[in-house]
Amino acid sequence: MSTFSNPANSLILALSKGRIFDDTMPLLAAAGITVTENPETSRKLILATNDPHVRVIIVRASDVPTYVQYGAADFGVAGKDVLLEHGGEGLYQPIDLNIAKCRMSVAVNAGFDYDKAVRQGARLRVATKFVQTAREHFAAKGVHVDLIKLYGSMELAPLVGLSDAIVDVVSTGSTLRANNLVEVEEIMDISSRLVVNQAALKLKRARLQPILEAFERASKLNN
Ligand code: ATP
Ligand code: PRP
Ligand code: MG
Repeated sequence: MSTFSNPANSLILALSKGRIFDDTMPLLAAAGITVTENPETSRKLILATNDPHVRVIIVRASDVPTYVQYGAADFGVAGKDVLLEHGGEGLYQPIDLNIAKCRMSVAVNAGFDYDKAVRQGARLRVATKFVQTAREHFAAKGVHVDLIKLYGSMELAPLVGLSDAIVDVVSTGSTLRANNLVEVEEIMDISSRLVVNQAALKLKRARLQPILEAFERASKLNN
């Protein structure tokens, strides 16, 4: 089935709508590729480009690694946060594209003494979409946590008493400020990576290689 929808002589790129799509367009342009439809106005999920051999599929940000892992897409762009949760199985990750830059942090209600709670060995309730990353972070610190899995709007959880803390991505900090939360720990810097299906890398190298090289060159400009 996948050979029909993803033929051997063409390439499928998986992107999510919004910042990753927008920030990938200049990289594609560096490879001479222009997407001819706008995902914000079109309901189509398979978008044509000016190159008849290249199509873009629009998927949820956290689904990009899955489409690429199974070869339904040959390559894709995903945040390090998403890749850590996925595990990276079946994916080759050759390039840090230096786009969608942010950091993964721990945040709490402004009045909550996080350091004291940690010092006293309190068991913390932590709400997050990033359970693997959060589990590893607190395990490495020796802090006992009950993780509560959420799918978005993490900043709400401490406000309504669902959790003591959240683990979420932070960029300008304005979402935290707007909700009277403070960042108490930075876990890691995040940016988006190019991911390539391992079989496609071998079987479609001739078509992929020039695009990977153009992405590599253009992404250096984002530094
Ligand atoms: P969905 O809404 O479908 O659950 P999402 O919120 O993860 O997905 P985006 O907001 O487009 O989708 O985020 C895509 C990637 O961009 C994230 O995986 C992360 O690496 C990065 N990112 C998220 N928020 C920011 C931000 N405020 N500034 C910069 N980069 C960000
Ligand atoms: C992301 C993230 C934070 C916010 C951080 O949300 O989930 O809420 O950005 O950015 P800031 O520090 O600049 O405020 P996003 O804009 O992706 O909205 P979403 O809830 O639709 O994911
Ligand atoms: Mg988001």
